[in-house]
Amino acid sequence: MKHNNHKNYKPRPPPFLASTAPWSLLTIPILLLALVATAAVAVAADNDKPPKRKLALLTASLPWTFGPYQSQMHQLSLLLHAADYDIHWISLHDTVPLGTYPTYDALRPHLGDMIRPPPGFPLNHITFLGRPPDQGKLTAGRLNSLQSEYRFDALLILLDLSHVVPDEPFQMPVVAWVPLHSETVSYSSVDYWVLRQFHGVASLAPSSAMAIRNAVQQEIRLDMEEDDDDGSSTPAAVREMVGTAHVEFIPHIIDGGYISALADAGLELLRDHSAAEMDSKLTHLPMVHRGQERTLEAGHPLSLFGEVRKEDFVVLIQGGNYDVEDRKGWDTSIQAFARFYHSLHDKSRVHLLIHAIESYISSMDRFSDIDPPASVMPRVVAAYKKRADVCLHASKVEGFGMNVIECQAVGTPVITTNYTAMGDYTKIGRSVPHRQMIRSPGHLYEMALPDVAGIKDAIQQLYDEHLALKRGDETALTRRALEIRNFNTWLESTCSPNAVRDKFQTLLIQATSEYKARSKGKHAILSGPPPTSGAYHLVTGYHLPIVDWDAPWTILAADGLKIIDARAIHQICWMHLLNPGGNTSPMVLVLPTKYDDGTVVPTHHPDGNVHDDLTVIVRTFMMTSLQDTMTRRKSFVASAIQHAVMMGSIQAISDTFNTAIVERKRDSASVGSFWNQFSTQHVEL
Ligand SMILES: *[C@@H]1O[C@H](CO)[C@@H](O)[C@H](O)[C@H]1NC(C)=O
Repeated sequence: MKHNNHKNYKPRPPPFLASTAPWSLLTIPILLLALVATAAVAVAADNDKPPKRKLALLTASLPWTFGPYQSQMHQLSLLLHAADYDIHWISLHDTVPLGTYPTYDALRPHLGDMIRPPPGFPLNHITFLGRPPDQGKLTAGRLNSLQSEYRFDALLILLDLSHVVPDEPFQMPVVAWVPLHSETVSYSSVDYWVLRQFHGVASLAPSSAMAIRNAVQQEIRLDMEEDDDDGSSTPAAVREMVGTAHVEFIPHIIDGGYISALADAGLELLRDHSAAEMDSKLTHLPMVHRGQERTLEAGHPLSLFGEVRKEDFVVLIQGGNYDVEDRKGWDTSIQAFARFYHSLHDKSRVHLLIHAIESYISSMDRFSDIDPPASVMPRVVAAYKKRADVCLHASKVEGFGMNVIECQAVGTPVITTNYTAMGDYTKIGRSVPHRQMIRSPGHLYEMALPDVAGIKDAIQQLYDEHLALKRGDETALTRRALEIRNFNTWLESTCSPNAVRDKFQTLLIQATSEYKARSKGKHAILSGPPPTSGAYHLVTGYHLPIVDWDAPWTILAADGLKIIDARAIHQICWMHLLNPGGNTSPMVLVLPTKYDDGTVVPTHHPDGNVHDDLTVIVRTFMMTSLQDTMTRRKSFVASAIQHAVMMGSIQAISDTFNTAIVERKRDSASVGSFWNQFSTQHVEL
């Protein structure tokens, strides 16, 4: 772990040399790589069988803890282990000292109060890998360090994209299994920059796979000169190094037969027991008595699960709605149900059942030393879905929406918002067009606003279908049976464990060859002098334009800035990006700038604020992130420096280059030596 002491901020001489010299230190890693390759071939020849590929899986937490990502990754780990991968597990949120833990028992002393795996939970196929505490985000650089520590052959990530910082190219094949929370991937989003880094992208819905392809499979837009006569690398090599990720649609694993079996078992139990009784029975904990709606009371003549009410119309809203912006759209769904309900003449046989997974359950599951409710909940959850006549799941956005597919898997139609994954996965039921888009301050993505009137109409239509089914209408019965059959065929061919495993095996192979192609491009570039163009895009002005360029660096400059040696600056930028020395790539570079009278632009105004004429070069992905909250160049420069200082990731380019001038008279109030100010003030902002 690098510490952010002040030494790091001192300007260092640039590693940049004369433009014809090959990059320093580059030949060593290439030679090593060649040796490693030879060794691998030798081992393979000895044993007939190629060595197992060492695959690291990275997700939110450990496999037995509560959460869809953990559960999906665990299922996938079993499938890929059976397909001959050597499985390693890295947890994002659990701090475990660096080291290899071959068993749960070896890992356990480091887990504090964390809940134990349930008896029989399969973990023998997993080796756990420690990860030191990070103050901050999961950067590509930190993942590269883990790779040098543990030497895995490939990494598979299941996380929201916002967790990953694309600070440098990955030094191993990386596949990301990603939910996309927007309809398109915009060049001005951090997601775009993160997605570009992966070698393979497994997108959780067909429409988002399309959106990701549209963004990352476009040729990179770099302003590069085709014919450089000084022997520096060609645009073709740069394009090869940037590469094109393989993008596949790979859903979460859903075993339809298993969910149906759970639902049937749950319904059986709910006939004689209330949900609270079942909870208590299966967890061996005392029952918590609460006021119960009598429609949920087992044995009560009015129970929804008994004989008397079995033909009543039940609309179910189910899940955890824990996002502050009501991402699941329960507000609008409840309004829609209310409109439908109040429009009815006879309301006596119509019910709204809201089954919320309380947040205390997930935290209890993770941290107390008791059996998790994992044995109870799935049965009740599935049974409610099966009893329901409609699952109402009209969210503002979904990356996947497990509930939508699971409801249909037990034969219950769904009502969704026709936006992102929900539109893709609504096969029995209605997907309602959204009303308009909304943006919630502080939330990364815009979302679709569900349409109350449209949802109300959809409930009405499904209510009419329900009545037709219950009175034995042949057309309705045949149509529903056909819909269910088609859905199950689709589910089996698309989401079954084997279908998902097969797609991952193919994608891992494709990602590995993409990684090799990018490395080849990178080595081609590193074997000559750095390219003399394409590294940066220059912006000026009081307010900055919204990012729509692919250049990896952006120069933020005062009006009138004139770059004297652009080729040298491009080379320095490429050098820092490709980082052949293996140090962490800086996020911000300070470019020495003079006024037309030869005096140096200072770093600060006398009041301590960053100087308006200071020229900084920042990683473009950083700009996309800052642009969510600011527009002034001044604020950008201050924030970029602040972030970079915090991460120990700022460097100043040596003023031995005559790099840039601001073509105007200097501001006489702020004369001073650039270097002295920079190194003594440490950019404390
Ligand atoms: C969602 O909207 C698109 C575009 O209007 C339409 O083609 C598609 O059929 C709709 N999906 C569903 C499930 O209704």
